[in-house]
Amino acid sequence: MPITINGQVVPAPSDPRLSLLDLLREQLHLAGTKKGCNQGACGACTVLADGERILSCLALAVQYEGRSIVSIEGLTADGTLHPLQQAFIDHDGFQCGYCTPGQICSAIGMAREIEHGLPSAVTADLEASQMTLTSEELRERMSGNLCRCGAHNGIVAAIAQTYARRPVVAEAAQ
Ligand code: FES
Ligand code: FES
Repeated sequence: MPITINGQVVPAPSDPRLSLLDLLREQLHLAGTKKGCNQGACGACTVLADGERILSCLALAVQYEGRSIVSIEGLTADGTLHPLQQAFIDHDGFQCGYCTPGQICSAIGMAREIEHGLPSAVTADLEASQMTLTSEELRERMSGNLCRCGAHNGIVAAIAQTYARRPVVAEAAQ
């Protein structure tokens, strides 16, 4: 069964050992998704699988047969940046940019988790009908995405601008 990647149907790899990250980067030449640690510790390889954020370095590509994957390249629709991409530019949410694709995909997945009422380790009221993306929630929920340049203040500002005031999900463009 094929895999849909950024709206394009691609055949599943014949090698079941191939990670989703290596499928994206090495076989499909979608180099936007970055390989940092390659062991699940940095978040640089984050992509969206049916809207959920996953670490593509820990995912075998064949596990995602029949699923829809969106990487950073799939967020731009008809040349128009995703609002979060624009917010990263507006707030200088990057320096070298290596962590940025993972940060952006992760934040989009995080917003979906908020909308679905999934608590984090710092959520105080588990019965609340609607969750608010406070600064504390944002920092906790994004703690899996590291930035070695220390651009975290801009990253937080960009995500807050996009999501903190409205409990909505920005779906990835196909
Ligand atoms: Fe996947 Fe670091 S490269 S978590
Ligand atoms: Fe360089 Fe985050 S902008 S690692």
